[in-house]
Amino acid sequence: MIDLRSDTVTRPTPEMRAAMASAEVGDDVYGEDPTVRELEERVAGMFGHEAALFTPTGSMANVLAVRSLVGVGQEVLCESSAHIARAELGAHGAFTGLTMRTWTGVRGGIDLPAIEALFAPDMGPFFVATRAISVENAYNFSDGSVLPIEDLEALRGFADSVGAGIHLDGARIWNAHVATGVPLERYGRVADALAVCLSKGLGAPVGSLVIGSRAAIEDARVWRKRLGGGMRQVGVLAAAGLYALDHHIERLAEDQAHARLLAEACGVDPAAVDSNMVVVVVPDAPAVVAAAREQGLLVSAVGPRAVRLVTRLDVSKAQAEEAAAVLSRLLAR
Ligand SMILES: Cc1ncc(COP(=O)(O)O)c(C=O)c1O
Repeated sequence: MIDLRSDTVTRPTPEMRAAMASAEVGDDVYGEDPTVRELEERVAGMFGHEAALFTPTGSMANVLAVRSLVGVGQEVLCESSAHIARAELGAHGAFTGLTMRTWTGVRGGIDLPAIEALFAPDMGPFFVATRAISVENAYNFSDGSVLPIEDLEALRGFADSVGAGIHLDGARIWNAHVATGVPLERYGRVADALAVCLSKGLGAPVGSLVIGSRAAIEDARVWRKRLGGGMRQVGVLAAAGLYALDHHIERLAEDQAHARLLAEACGVDPAAVDSNMVVVVVPDAPAVVAAAREQGLLVSAVGPRAVRLVTRLDVSKAQAEEAAAVLSRLLAR
């Protein structure tokens, strides 16, 4: 089977497993795991922030990052298809007690006039006050689209002018960085709090980080424990992340090239492929998923008429070409 459902299905490579097996470890709840500490310091530095905290999942990292900016009865603004709004099962409302309002942007993009119109200053006991604006880059539920850095910087300007924070869901910030050449630190400057994932394009089996100020990360450490995310000899997992940072960032360009190749086979403009995802509009998505499976290809239906293809570390060029041939035959029928 060639599996193009998601980059989350990637398995650790033998070299990554070797790095995990030889990791130095300690009790991370005591702050004594040297490999976790190395990972946290390194990732914070990559984004130009003071501190970072290792979490089991991107969803937990997002909850901790957003709650570092938004409190009970306050709101975060985000795009209507944002992962935090659609796919975290209400965690931000349930655990943080915040509310959300959304704008709808083209391919998940930043619509500054809409955000300005939504923004609500603190008006005491009358309206919910906006405390932060959340953005996602690259954007999962459009088609892996990458937000232009100019748009992010303009949003930063607006947020500063009204005293709001910015949260960046950077589960796939690595893909955005490789696609655009924008340094990670420049993305880091746009946001007060970030969540980044090691377990998507970077191919680690588990792991994400919250990134922010030292004070915010200390508080996030308390909340991580409260949520049941205090882990012990977790350096074995952090080692996978360190290995991924050393070996799996630059190669994301290959995934993007493979995504373009697939796009071409499916009649999608390859120039519109920003990262490692392609969404193909078809008359009947479940039928295409079933037919592809019969031909040894796994793809996902992300809507009744939308099929998503995601490239990743353990899909080779030869497999991408084989998948392209299967899809081009199926879609031509
Ligand atoms: C954009 C984005 N943010 C956050 C997450 C959450 O990551 P996790 O599955 O590790 O909770 C995902 C997962 O796919 C994602 O695509």
